[in-house]
Amino acid sequence: MDGLYLVEKLERERDLTNAEFTEVLTCREEVFDKYLSERARAVRERVYGKDVYLRGLVEFTNICKNNCKYCGIRCGNTKVERYRLSEEEILACCDQGDALGFRTFVLQGGEDPYFTDERLVPLVRQMKEQHPDCAITLSIGERERESYQRLFDAGADRYLLRHETANKAHYESLHPRAMSYEHRMQCLRDLKEIGFQVGCGMMVGSPGQTTEHLVEDLRFLQAFQPEMVGIGPFIPHHETEYAKEPAGSVELTLRLLSVIRLLLPEVLLPATTALGTMDPLGREKGLLAGANVIMPNLSPTGVRGKYLLYDNKICTGDEAAECVRCMSLRVAKTGYKVVQARGDHVRVTER
Ligand code: 5AD
Ligand code: FES
Repeated sequence: MDGLYLVEKLERERDLTNAEFTEVLTCREEVFDKYLSERARAVRERVYGKDVYLRGLVEFTNICKNNCKYCGIRCGNTKVERYRLSEEEILACCDQGDALGFRTFVLQGGEDPYFTDERLVPLVRQMKEQHPDCAITLSIGERERESYQRLFDAGADRYLLRHETANKAHYESLHPRAMSYEHRMQCLRDLKEIGFQVGCGMMVGSPGQTTEHLVEDLRFLQAFQPEMVGIGPFIPHHETEYAKEPAGSVELTLRLLSVIRLLLPEVLLPATTALGTMDPLGREKGLLAGANVIMPNLSPTGVRGKYLLYDNKICTGDEAAECVRCMSLRVAKTGYKVVQARGDHVRVTER
């Protein structure tokens, strides 16, 4: 099959057959990636111009009741020094982020039972009150629908919950029995119905993943129509049973970013920290493959080294201001530019 023809078909029809998706993910033609990323960039620029949105990530707790087999902060890892930021510390991160030009804050954490609705609702309200022009994104795992509703009513705008893999058997191989594929999918549906802008996504190259699984992921994205998609390479963490597994590939991640851009032209697509960890220029390459979001860390430097989902994570020693400066320069080198905007999902493109 002709790879370039498939790129054109994907752009035109926003769809391919399973066999064609498989071909796109495995194609070895010399000029294929260049053409694919060019088309992905053209589509991204038609929708979002050259703007890159920043999301200020506040990693507010590394305490987690789950034991996902791939994750460095899973509860079974007794070597992690656990921490939980106070409400004051979280609000201070947001103030600092606001001053640095962020218009979205992402509260990300493990599934920490301390953070009940009673504690989170007033926190979200205060964030919203103090930064009314900012979007609030939560990334705090699986909760009950009522809880999601309360957080939405308190002012949270967006929610990130990666589906990790759309294949049930693969999901079950990556997680302990206590976690279920059905519940993860139910959470995603609930979030969407409640009215959140929802982000899902998968790791690329997670243990046991096949090309067929990735095609299922693409089909899932197509059916679910998320506002955001977070993908990054799997990276082993030394204190997990996957310590000796190979990391996911940067090239395949970039290819998937481009495919996702063509499949969902308006989607918000971050060039992730995991991508930047696997390749010093990974995030820049991600932007040039169709990504349009960067999520610098706003967490206090004292705790950054404790929020390690995988080994060798970048930016754990830098002040937020330093990361913003560094990222703005890196983005400028790609020909794109960091903007101070909420960067909401748009639905404007015509076919
Ligand atoms: N490598 C890459 N990504 C990981 N995540 C968790 N552990 C790892 C790892 N070892 C991702 C998961 C999770 C997100 C917050 O980070 O996809 O949803
Ligand atoms: Fe964090 Fe460059 S983005 S130091």
